[in-house]
Amino acid sequence: MSYQPVLTARVGVVDPASLKDYEAHGGFRALRHAIAIGPDAVIDLVTQAHVLGRGGAAFPAGIKWKAVNEEHGPKFVVANADESEPGTFKDRVIMEGDPFSLVEGVIIASYAALAEKAYIYIRGEYPQAIACVQQAIAACYAAGYLGENILGAGFNLQVEIRKGAGAYICGEETALFESIEGKRGFPRLKPPFPTQSGLFGRPTLINNVETLINALPLVLYGPDWYRQFGPSDSPGPKLYCLSGRVRHPGLVEAPMGTPLSELIYEYGGGVTGSGELGGVLLGGAAGAFISPEMIDVFMDFATLREIDAALGSGVVMVFDTSADIKGVLKRIAHFFAHESCGKCFPCQLGTQRQVEIIDRLAADRLRPGDLALLREVGQTMTDASICGLGQTAAGAIRTALDRFGYEASTGEFYTFQR
Ligand SMILES: Cc1cc2nc3c(=O)[nH]c(=O)nc-3n(C[C@H](O)[C@H](O)[C@H](O)COP(=O)(O)O)c2cc1C
Ligand code: SF4
Repeated sequence: MSYQPVLTARVGVVDPASLKDYEAHGGFRALRHAIAIGPDAVIDLVTQAHVLGRGGAAFPAGIKWKAVNEEHGPKFVVANADESEPGTFKDRVIMEGDPFSLVEGVIIASYAALAEKAYIYIRGEYPQAIACVQQAIAACYAAGYLGENILGAGFNLQVEIRKGAGAYICGEETALFESIEGKRGFPRLKPPFPTQSGLFGRPTLINNVETLINALPLVLYGPDWYRQFGPSDSPGPKLYCLSGRVRHPGLVEAPMGTPLSELIYEYGGGVTGSGELGGVLLGGAAGAFISPEMIDVFMDFATLREIDAALGSGVVMVFDTSADIKGVLKRIAHFFAHESCGKCFPCQLGTQRQVEIIDRLAADRLRPGDLALLREVGQTMTDASICGLGQTAAGAIRTALDRFGYEASTGEFYTFQR
């Protein structure tokens, strides 16, 4: 708890509409330093710090930055601010409270990748975030941080905002490219990967908002400073979206690898409702449930993967023992069936079959063989779907059945019977 926030240090402190205020609080120092050391040195810093993408897939940022830097011809940077994972609200806090930091992150990434055009794709349901970022972009053009010959360094960059239209799938990077191109948000088959063929078929660096703003302190203070937070294979400051039955829900910034118990009982002030922890959904609908015995787990990408859970986009949704867990699973199943884009059969049909079985489970009308069928459908979606939506659509339901003591004979979850 002695940690001093870095990524959110300016949120609630600066006037988000004032470039002057941003500069007075250290804004654009990182860009000036990046320009002083050059694109290759910036990429080396990101690589040495072992920054892992904060959008959910935990891909090493340095590899992407270098790959796009080495491509020739026109290329793009895209900031993924679609933030559609249920329970995630970290990017919104940044965009509304410190929008210039996102713009500065986009400029540094574009400078490093040698891209002259960038898009910020923002969730359409975030009108205030869109207005704040739009205003920040306009101020940056006026001050010479965007446009031609930025800070006299001979580097040009144009930045535009694109609004999402409410589809979860448009947060998936290739569906997002299709959406910017004016097409329906269907994911593309990979390879080719975005670093070779992304937006408009050109090499594209796409990163989550939180990943991009990690570059600011990292460029200023270096990889050794960055790696002091959390485990060496998954380091850095981290934003956790704490919600549900805790006394103090909200955005928590803490080191990567902070124990879950610390997030719930110290940052969150403990469990409300029945006062007894029933379970925690980590990573959102695409993540996994964990049971009360597991709450000493360290919240970093590698540790959570080892216990069949996921950090994802940083969701920590807390349920007390009085929660209607069957209703929660029903909501999750319906969410995936609704959001499946229908491009591939395992997900299009699997999410429908999953809904039917979970509806029966919630109504205490399971048929013989339903649970085995649910597992088979889930495994098929996980193994055979072409994008992350279908690949993760069964995880929360499977882990709830495994970890909350579901008893088919009584139709009850033991953990939620107290
Ligand atoms: C269904 C689906 C939705 C996604 N939604 C988001 C999102 O809202 N924001 C985001 O940053 N990444 C999202 N992603 C992950 C992106 O595809 C991609 O991995 C990410 O933007 C890369 O940035 P990063 O390396 O900085 O994490 C989603 C993936 C899937 C499969
Ligand atoms: S897995 Fe689902 S969301 Fe992804 S392409 Fe297939 S049908 Fe669409």
